[in-house]
Amino acid sequence: MIRVGQGFDVHAFAPGRPLKLCGVTVPFELGLLGHSDADVAVHALMDALLGAAALGDIGKLFPDTDQKYAGADSILLLKKVVALLKEKNFTIINFDITIIAQEPKISPYVDGMRAILASCCGLSLDCVSVKATTTEKLGFTGRKEGIAALACALIEKA
Ligand code: CDP
Ligand code: ZN
Repeated sequence: MIRVGQGFDVHAFAPGRPLKLCGVTVPFELGLLGHSDADVAVHALMDALLGAAALGDIGKLFPDTDQKYAGADSILLLKKVVALLKEKNFTIINFDITIIAQEPKISPYVDGMRAILASCCGLSLDCVSVKATTTEKLGFTGRKEGIAALACALIEKA
């Protein structure tokens, strides 16, 4: 049984925080605000994987009211999601992430991001896609108020 899932997330920019995207610290004058490390791209990916398996979402698995997840490394949360899918006999086929940001330029970091995610999910690099787009200065991402991310994942039940 092959199943598809989608994920979407948004975090606002804030000064004095590192900008974590797909597990990579991207050099920029602003970071993202959040209870965890606010890795918006990994959050969208986890929601896509959970959605494909109909296992809820990250808000259900890792409530932001739980102190345990304060400042949490989203890559570690992703590893928990991957383990949960495995436990339910799902294997990941591939996924595709789109980071929506006016700034900073993401393309120099994409290969490093793909390598981290591939290793975390036990996938080959060619099954992991990360790309970026601006919104041509329109809307909240265009005004550089924050970053949005979309993800689409395909999984298979053994
Ligand atoms: O409409 P399109 O996405 O082609 O144009 P754009 O939003 O101006 O982005 C042009 C290219 O810049 C994209 O293909 C991305 O590879 C890259 N990009 C990036 O590296 N980092 C961003 N924050 C936005 C776009
Ligand atoms: Zn998030």
